[in-house]
Amino acid sequence: MTEIRLNAFDMNCVSHQASGLWRHPRDRSAEYRSLRYWTDLARTLERGLFDALFLADVLGVYDVYGQSPDAALRNGAQIPVNDPAMLLSAMASVTEHLGFGLTATLSYEHPFPFARRMSTLDHLTEGRIGWNIVTGYLNSAAKSTGHQVQTKHDQRYAIADDYMDVVYKLWEKSWDQDAVLRDKQRGIFTDPSKVHRIQHDGPFFSLDAIHLAEPSPQRTPVLFQAGASARGQQFAATHAECVFVAGPSQDTVAKTVRSLRAEAQQAGRPKNTPLVFSLLTIITAPTEEEAFAKYHDYQSYISEEGALTLLSGWTGIDFSTYKLTDPIRHIRNDAIHSAIDSLTVMNPDKIWTVGELARHAAIGGMGVTFVGSPTQIVDQMEQWIDQTGVDGFNLAYAVAPETFEDIVDLIVPELQRRGLYKLAYQPGTLRNKLFGAGDHLPATHAARKTHLPSSLASAQ
Ligand SMILES: Cc1cc2nc3c(=O)[nH]c(=O)nc-3n(C[C@H](O)[C@H](O)[C@H](O)COP(=O)(O)O)c2cc1C
Repeated sequence: MTEIRLNAFDMNCVSHQASGLWRHPRDRSAEYRSLRYWTDLARTLERGLFDALFLADVLGVYDVYGQSPDAALRNGAQIPVNDPAMLLSAMASVTEHLGFGLTATLSYEHPFPFARRMSTLDHLTEGRIGWNIVTGYLNSAAKSTGHQVQTKHDQRYAIADDYMDVVYKLWEKSWDQDAVLRDKQRGIFTDPSKVHRIQHDGPFFSLDAIHLAEPSPQRTPVLFQAGASARGQQFAATHAECVFVAGPSQDTVAKTVRSLRAEAQQAGRPKNTPLVFSLLTIITAPTEEEAFAKYHDYQSYISEEGALTLLSGWTGIDFSTYKLTDPIRHIRNDAIHSAIDSLTVMNPDKIWTVGELARHAAIGGMGVTFVGSPTQIVDQMEQWIDQTGVDGFNLAYAVAPETFEDIVDLIVPELQRRGLYKLAYQPGTLRNKLFGAGDHLPATHAARKTHLPSSLASAQ
């Protein structure tokens, strides 16, 4: 088996997807406003040789539940939520290798300022930036930026394709690698003949500009994405170097991985691309007994209302209209297939209720949760990879930063003992660490195939 990849999954808010657990006496996630909290976390993750810290983000409030933001506000369900980009320079300054996957939606910002912000972060982190490309799923986000409703699903991906075309041109084509001379003697900072004006006139975006930032270590940040629909997978096959899946069962994840890889190969991508990370929450302690005691302790802090608030936002179903004792099968719709699958796979004979779904999702969200001793957990991780073909895990927390500390102190040494995990970081940028093939996107990637018309020679 090749090396298992690990990302930490977090968000610039309390409890992220561990509903109610901000009340746990050892949980520190309510300190999310302090830089110290984040720099401590970054150091912990680097000690565990994590590939990256992946920061989720939404630009709206979860107001599907009860058709109001009240439950989200009461429970701290991903609100208040601060901008994740602001955290990265500070975390980069106390680490040398840890990568940062920044979630940014392309639905509410023109690509031009966004491209410069990412170039800036890539400079300041010395090439450790990734971008989780999202289009958003909350109507509240659309409304807060002057739209009536969210753009329809497939159309969001069509817009995303055009957006990618613009940022690729800015990152990859606007500045030649040797454009910046810093020639003090001749008094020339940049050779103007090596900076190219980008003129884009696409279906959704147009621009006539030169990129404002000089080439950063990776130029294009490492591209992450998480679409599981047919259109989402098509987008991922074209653009993504890493994909997050939230599959709750091995069957669901294995199917997604197979079709994703097949589609990527068809698009001419290298064999090992995209890397796939499966959502997982690990609750561990030195012995099985202690691990389950910890799990039961955590469960005593769960907020069912908080969990249903998040689930309502993710699925579009207003769970406040059901009783906790209502059986789930009456509520089944397309959006919630995977959550249902997770429950039935774990216990096929049982009819699950809304309350049980809430308690299940309150720790682990739409992914799986493994509870056990380090050897039991690593057995399960190995088995999961074996059965699904994923490359690694996107590790959510129950109690922060305790869950990550447990993984670093107990799981990482066991993975290393079995030869399944790196003993040291590879040198260089995040892209080089993940793929070992240099800092820039490979020539086979869509971004590198974006050609400028020959008339757009130089910026002058
Ligand atoms: C692990 C994981 C993390 C995600 N994080 C975010 C996020 O931070 N912000 C966001 O708007 N969407 C996020 N999404 C949602 C995806 O971007 C996407 O909208 C969703 O997977 C549905 O895509 P599909 O309709 O193509 O299946 C995440 C999805 C997964 C599986």
